[in-house]
Amino acid sequence: MNAAKPPRGTSSKQKSGAAASHAAPTRTNDLRTAFLDFFARNDHVVVPSAPLVPRHDPTLMFTNAGMVPFKNVFTGQEKARALRAASSQKCVRAGGKHNDLDNVGYTARHHTFFEMLGNFSFGDYFKERAIALAWELLTKDLALPKEKLLITVYADDDEAARLWKKIAGVPDDKILRIAGSDNFWSMGDTGPCGPCSEIFYDHGAHLPGGPPGSPDQDGDRFVEIWNLVFMQYEQREDGTRVDLPRPSIDTGMGLERIAAVMQGTHDNYDIDLFRTLIAASVELTGVRAEGDTPRATASSPIICARLPSLLPTACCPPTKAAVRAPPHHAPGHAACASARRQGPAALPAGADAHRRDGARLSRARARRGSDRGDAEAGGDPLSRDLGTGLAAVDEAVEGLSSGDTLPGEVAFKLYDTFGFPYDLTEDALKAKGIAVDAAGFRAAMERQRAEARKSWAGSGEAATETLWFELKEDLGATEFLGYETETASGEIVALVKDGKRVEKLEKGERGIVIVNQTPFYAESGGQVGDRGTLGMGTDVSFRVEDTQKKLHGLFLHEGVVEKGTLLRGETVMLTVDHARRSTTRAHHSATHLLHEALRQVLGQHVAQKGSLVEPGRLRFDFSHQKPMSQDEIAAVEDLANAMILQNAPVETHLMTPDAAIEQGALALFGEKYGDEVRVVSMGIAPDSPKAGHAYSIELCGGTHVTRTGEIGLLKIVGESAVAAGVRRVEALTGGAARGFLAGQDARVRQAAEILKVSPDEMIERLAAVVEERRKLERQLAEAKRALALRPEGGGGEAASAVRELGRVKLLARTVHGVQPKDLRGLVDEAKQQLGSGIVAVVGVSEEGKAGLVVGVTDDLTGDYSAVDLVRVGARRLGGKGGGGRPDLAQAGGPTARAPC
Ligand code: SER
Repeated sequence: MNAAKPPRGTSSKQKSGAAASHAAPTRTNDLRTAFLDFFARNDHVVVPSAPLVPRHDPTLMFTNAGMVPFKNVFTGQEKARALRAASSQKCVRAGGKHNDLDNVGYTARHHTFFEMLGNFSFGDYFKERAIALAWELLTKDLALPKEKLLITVYADDDEAARLWKKIAGVPDDKILRIAGSDNFWSMGDTGPCGPCSEIFYDHGAHLPGGPPGSPDQDGDRFVEIWNLVFMQYEQREDGTRVDLPRPSIDTGMGLERIAAVMQGTHDNYDIDLFRTLIAASVELTGVRAEGDTPRATASSPIICARLPSLLPTACCPPTKAAVRAPPHHAPGHAACASARRQGPAALPAGADAHRRDGARLSRARARRGSDRGDAEAGGDPLSRDLGTGLAAVDEAVEGLSSGDTLPGEVAFKLYDTFGFPYDLTEDALKAKGIAVDAAGFRAAMERQRAEARKSWAGSGEAATETLWFELKEDLGATEFLGYETETASGEIVALVKDGKRVEKLEKGERGIVIVNQTPFYAESGGQVGDRGTLGMGTDVSFRVEDTQKKLHGLFLHEGVVEKGTLLRGETVMLTVDHARRSTTRAHHSATHLLHEALRQVLGQHVAQKGSLVEPGRLRFDFSHQKPMSQDEIAAVEDLANAMILQNAPVETHLMTPDAAIEQGALALFGEKYGDEVRVVSMGIAPDSPKAGHAYSIELCGGTHVTRTGEIGLLKIVGESAVAAGVRRVEALTGGAARGFLAGQDARVRQAAEILKVSPDEMIERLAAVVEERRKLERQLAEAKRALALRPEGGGGEAASAVRELGRVKLLARTVHGVQPKDLRGLVDEAKQQLGSGIVAVVGVSEEGKAGLVVGVTDDLTGDYSAVDLVRVGARRLGGKGGGGRPDLAQAGGPTARAPC
């Protein structure tokens, strides 16, 4: 942070403007903490910032005030978890009712992105307590001089004026009554609203500008720092205004504005937070500030506005963010995108600043790699999507001129196809004097829902799926943030227990949590669902045991509440089990490399037939007719590992299916793809026909490593058949592969030890031992045979064991320790020795089992059949049956007794 000056509050150059005492915090981060601590001390529950892009709120493009997440609580639609709350909410005012864009860069106090500190009472305290708390924080904790503060109240709000006098002792001439919208606050055209009272800070007579209500009120001298809204009404769509169930409080203090006051400057861009960002932007762009304030160049405020720098990390994935980014500020946005394109290495200062902000604000862990991967993917998705969307808007208004109305149907198409929310379209067309047909927009949305319902009804899904359909229809698809981050905040939009929607899940209860946006990957494309936790601070924790997806995009977090109670409507932090995700990711990327390697080694007929990607292993099924040889397996392993060693970047592009196929992407045959597909490419093809191009290009929605080197190692551990013409390869990567190889190594060492040689000599020794054993077995069998044919009592020739029965010679013996399979050989040998006669041998194996073989020399087979004889013998042995040919027959028997 070489160029960044220390924050004003810590330097000796403290200006007279803020009379902060020694104890008063001055740094932006400390001020945020001080604010939240103050309200926590005053019995408020501190809640994390809600996502910047509100979901399921068709009225808003961005969260534009601290009260937005509590909208339904104010109107009574939702029950508050606590009656008092405080937060530091990420906000953007870039469209709709509160649009600061035209002021950004021209005033010292407007931003695209800012943080709003707020305290809220949901039917608890009202005006009196709200004024007392605000006054105490400003004049005691922050030690601001009372004479520097000026108050406005709504023109006819006598009560507020009286309270300011009573509680704060503010003299009449410093309580200004203002009529009109400045002192009547509403979030949008509809929603909770009420009269408000604003606190202004006087930065001093050296600055131009008059008090609120005066003609030059927009000057820099008097700056509104805090707005206390006395929330009393709800503005309905039909134009009526009704009382809220209970009067409430919503306050908002711009963090950057109070930081400026506390750091002795009237210029928000001169505070610690922005000095860091501006220094980074100067370093990157080479464009220096002109004049005496850092924001004095026309472009630098846009560049350093925290919106473009934070969107990718703070709330939403770049593509969506880009679509929602303020259109007429695209140049600034592009400047930021081009800075990103240089990658983290080129962004030492800026990247750190972005990252620190991102981490602090949303605790979203921005993956440097994915930023880089996206940026390096050629078409920066931010610029590209924005460009496509804007081109579509231009196309939509072709032929329309000022005074015309854009049909609602067209506005809905812009929303449905390009993600342009209604208010963004309205805003973009305002400058051209073109209105948008709101009723038509709503009608088109309703029509689409009805159609979806109809097509679902015909899809034959089980009746039990009705709930998912209802939820999908009510809540829309869950926004998936998991390509960019493993941690994010999200709002619980539904809870399900035992197949039913519930308002809460208590400790020990199992259930399903649905949030508006999630970094959790839901099982699909063979990749298993993520596990992790979902919680609020240390009080509430839900263990996510699996993540599943229903109806193309409704993410279900399945698990159990381990601590506290989960309530619908609350904002929670979602944290994916990083270790599990990392190894899953490595196995998924390895599957792509394996797929391509199989195609290169076995041929282009190889096509994916199935895949399973788990943290500990991968399984890949593919079309191929015969088993793979060891050489083929080794060649596939070699190729895949060469790609891993390249440590090449893994790139992700979004494109039309046709463009993807044209690039040579492997797609699943028969699979239906949407208008836009995600194409994952990795590795650099070495010396194949596509040399120099990406080694593997596949359509894939899974999560992947950033560079192939992260896979570490690929080891095939199994190859088998699954079905006719389909083979299966099982493989391990990284730690799992290493563990497998370490196990193999240990076994080799053990074996070498038994053989008493070094592992290097083991094979030779083993071969010698096996050969020796074979030889010994042969010798033993021969010795046994020779022994068996010798006459009992020893000595002499086999012939001497022969008895003469009439004119037929009979050789009958019982032999021990001879395998039944060797008996036939014995009998044949004996037949030859006899020349003419009958041989009967009972063999008793080492296990005590008897077997009988009878042989009859050919000259006698006319009179005696070996088959008949063996049957008689078998019966004597206690067995049954027996069979063979007239000259040689065999039977088994349980007992070992001589047949004759
Ligand atoms: N909602 C009010 C505002 O934004 C107070 O928080 O000014």
